[in-house]
Amino acid sequence: MTGHLVVAIDGPAGSGKSTVARKVAAALGLERLDTGAMYRAVAWAALERDVPLDDDEALAALAGALRIDLVDGVEVDGTDVTAAIRTPEVNDAVSLVAAVPAVRTELVERQRRWVVERGGGVVEGRDIGSVVFPEAAVKVYLDASPGERARRRGEEGAAALARRDRLDASRPTAPLSVPEGAHVIDTTHVPVDAVVQEVLGWI
Ligand code: DC
Repeated sequence: MTGHLVVAIDGPAGSGKSTVARKVAAALGLERLDTGAMYRAVAWAALERDVPLDDDEALAALAGALRIDLVDGVEVDGTDVTAAIRTPEVNDAVSLVAAVPAVRTELVERQRRWVVERGGGVVEGRDIGSVVFPEAAVKVYLDASPGERARRRGEEGAAALARRDRLDASRPTAPLSVPEGAHVIDTTHVPVDAVVQEVLGWI
């Protein structure tokens, strides 16, 4: 990945990743990749096509076969799923799908290709600084108190959010963790623009 400016932003749901990633990308003139949307796209397609969520092989085959376009929204095989991937059903399914190693292998490969094709980018997720781009120029791990994160993700509900975080942090493959060398910011009481300025200061 030498030569590409990669800013890796990891953290649990509601920690502020998307907002911060969007603003950092705009300030740097880079594109932003929301890797969570890719896992959501696979989960959405699995529900849509009745692929059992405990069938790792079928989920991996599905992930490999889908065309996922992340431009202004999210498209799966040409269908706009921007809103459909944010439903409670997808929230419940996505951590199961994301725990399948072969699904991750497929999506990680796409994420790396995405960055190479663009000559860099701001990439947000759970394993970006630890697995996808361990050599990223800047690694950021955002966090916030459970109460604040639940408030930000109001519609999902504190219990569902806690379950998803627990699954994401406890899976054997590429669990949510603070990557080595990451700058950790607790965003609970920090305004977004201050977080963005702090991140830009590390570049
Ligand atoms: O960022 P998000 O909440 O939209 O992500 C949805 C789910 O996708 C999250 O609960 C775990 C999974 N995910 C992952 O396993 N690895 C990533 N790099 C990004 C998301």
